Amino acid sequence: MASTTTKNGKEVVRIEFDKGVAWVTLNRPEKRNAMNPALNSRMLEVLDELEGDDRCGVLVLTGEGDAFSAGMDLKEYFREMEGKPRVVTQRARRAAYEWQWRRLRYYEKPTIAMVNGWCFGGAFTPLVSCDLAIAAEEAQFGLSEINWGIIPAGNVSRAVAETLRHRDALYYIMTGLTFDGCKAAEMGLVNEAVPRTRLRQRTRELADLLLQKNPAVLKAAKDAFKRTRDLSWEASEDYLTSKQEQLWLIEGQARQEGMKQFLDDKSFRPGLGPYKRPPNNK
Ligand code: COA
Repeated sequence: MASTTTKNGKEVVRIEFDKGVAWVTLNRPEKRNAMNPALNSRMLEVLDELEGDDRCGVLVLTGEGDAFSAGMDLKEYFREMEGKPRVVTQRARRAAYEWQWRRLRYYEKPTIAMVNGWCFGGAFTPLVSCDLAIAAEEAQFGLSEINWGIIPAGNVSRAVAETLRHRDALYYIMTGLTFDGCKAAEMGLVNEAVPRTRLRQRTRELADLLLQKNPAVLKAAKDAFKRTRDLSWEASEDYLTSKQEQLWLIEGQARQEGMKQFLDDKSFRPGLGPYKRPPNNK
């Protein structure tokens, strides 16, 4: 197992809990939070740990210092893997892909990427895997792979195709040019861009909105959207009906409560906000 601390004994991933939000910070600022095997292994553990942790109602992924993440670590993930047996490189790749999209994309909790600065190459995968994303206007993004002779692999191309329009995607994949947070918002890569001084506060506001919702319904709703995109209309209808029925079985009280507050108590309007969740959290 790779060590998860840096040479000076610092954790490569930092977790802070604050009123329902787990702030997960990639913590290699001296390397612009480039993702090395140790960080990838640790992130996998962190996702496992937070999945069952009641202090984490929303997970925010961000980076320490001036970078969200400068992508995969060119030294430790690429150069030092050269010549290693395939089983070793495969293992490193698997750890990276496992957290960056397989786990994160369908994570149990709602996820927000808070892009505070540099965001390059491999960092696009966790960025897109997060349900929502807010960037600092000053953040700089780039699909820099072309600049040093590789293609956006590690499912970066797939993540880009999911979020950017055809022409925008190819433009940035083929030129390797950078763009800022405002452009990222304009193209739909992130939900919005705010001045860096407001970034944490705005992310908190968004997290608070999500914390008001029923967590089981939230999880089913995001999965339903993500999974049906690749299905035919027929398969999608069947998936959504099954998902809805599954939700009624495990969380039927939620909609009963919502309907009661609207139809009987007349205490809220579903079109204008969430129903008031009773103390048993349903
Ligand atoms: N992999 C490995 N090391 C990286 C890295 C990466 N992706 N990104 C930054 N670093 C390291 C640098 O090698 C340097 O290490 P050193 O202090 O031991 O020399 C340190 O982080 C600081 O980098 P530096 O380039 O001096 O910082 P900067 O603030 O001037 O520039 C970037 C920041 C992000 C523009 C620049 O570091 C960069 O271009 N990084 C590579 C981005 C990239 O192409 N990623 C795609 C990978 S798929």
